[in-house]
Amino acid sequence: MHLRKFSAIALLARGIQAAAVLRFGCSQIVVERLDPLVNPSDNPSPHVHQVVGGNAFSALIPQSDVSELANCTTCTFSEDLSNYWTANMYFKARNGTYKRVGQIPNRFLNGETGGMTVYYTGAYDGSKVTAFKPGFRMLAGNATQRTTGGVTKWNAICFRCYNAKNFGGDNYAPCADPSVDSVALPNKMCPGGIRTTIRFPTCWDGKNLDSPDHVSHVSYPASGTFENSGPCPSTHPVKLPQLMFEVIWDTAPFNDKSLWPADGSQPFVFSQGDSVNLRANSTGYGQHGDYVFGWKGSALQNAIDAGCFGATCNKLKTQTFAAANKCAVPKEVKEDVEGWLTELPGGSMGM
Ligand SMILES: *[C@@H]1O[C@H](CO)[C@@H](O)[C@H](O)[C@H]1NC(C)=O
Ligand SMILES: *[C@@H]1O[C@H](CO)[C@@H](O)[C@H](O)[C@H]1NC(C)=O
Ligand SMILES: *[C@@H]1O[C@H](CO)[C@@H](O)[C@H](O)[C@H]1NC(C)=O
Ligand SMILES: *[C@@H]1O[C@H](CO)[C@@H](O)[C@H](O)[C@H]1NC(C)=O
Repeated sequence: MHLRKFSAIALLARGIQAAAVLRFGCSQIVVERLDPLVNPSDNPSPHVHQVVGGNAFSALIPQSDVSELANCTTCTFSEDLSNYWTANMYFKARNGTYKRVGQIPNRFLNGETGGMTVYYTGAYDGSKVTAFKPGFRMLAGNATQRTTGGVTKWNAICFRCYNAKNFGGDNYAPCADPSVDSVALPNKMCPGGIRTTIRFPTCWDGKNLDSPDHVSHVSYPASGTFENSGPCPSTHPVKLPQLMFEVIWDTAPFNDKSLWPADGSQPFVFSQGDSVNLRANSTGYGQHGDYVFGWKGSALQNAIDAGCFGATCNKLKTQTFAAANKCAVPKEVKEDVEGWLTELPGGSMGM
């Protein structure tokens, strides 16, 4: 484990050159059918999300300074009261029932429970990035996407099928290794689980903290990618840090062919339902991530300007997971999202 840890970090360091990279764990804070970004006030919202971060998460998060609304966070950096969430993966057994797929916590951070790893990366060419402002929020990906196209063009969102060998982070760069990475859900058993990486837009219009579709106020680069320092479009000239979610779905407990559908169809499905109809395979193209910014003051800007790397930063306060895991939000939606369910919570089907 020690060697593995060393080599993964060495690879990460080689890949990132001089850019700041905050890379830290956030334990699960709640799993339920709420979506304060896309369906504010709806209780319940249409599909299940797995949520990490601050305890201001609820059906409605006022668009004020979230770092003033929350009192604790499940993240390593205690000044990060933001919320981060994604749809949850489910396993559909041969008998037609669904079971929530849990997450493998970050293997290099001791004590995280479920949740995800969050990354903020500074510009690779050393230019200035501008941290998000209080009230800022955005969405990456599109829950109703059922084909390639759209966000997939930026190679921003993909899966990695972990085999026992690369379990742990060989060839670190997300979406870059066609032997293990795909935009569609892997169509085979992955012994080490399935990783989701979601990279958010990195250009901002400089004015709007949100937009009706939660996407139009931000943009991916006009050409190239954030990694190769592609320029922002003139409509969205302000370069943001790159936010990335890494979620490792613990699919291995379901790797039993006798439980998989007899016709060879895809057994994993996102909580929004992600096939074109009930008989079709689920695609994975609809995976998406939601972000509500909630860092205290200029903490995020200071950490990026200082070139901080990894889960420690002398500009930021950290907490142990023992402390972080005490942060909780009461579950608002009283329904079972964990057991063997006869339908996806909310009744999301193929469409
Ligand atoms: C945080 O603390 C403030 C002040 O004590 C309180 O008003 C607020 O309800 C708390 N917020 C949460 C999410 O617990
Ligand atoms: C369906 O299959 C799962 C996995 O074998 C099992 O745990 C569950 O009890 C089954 N449910 C029904 C209703 O047969
Ligand atoms: C999401 O995808 C659907 C279906 O492809 C499309 O109609 C819709 O405009 C997309 N939304 C955004 C914000 O791109
Ligand atoms: C689902 O995927 C399996 C395996 O790739 C394939 O054999 C089958 O034809 C697909 N089913 C549909 C309805 O597309």
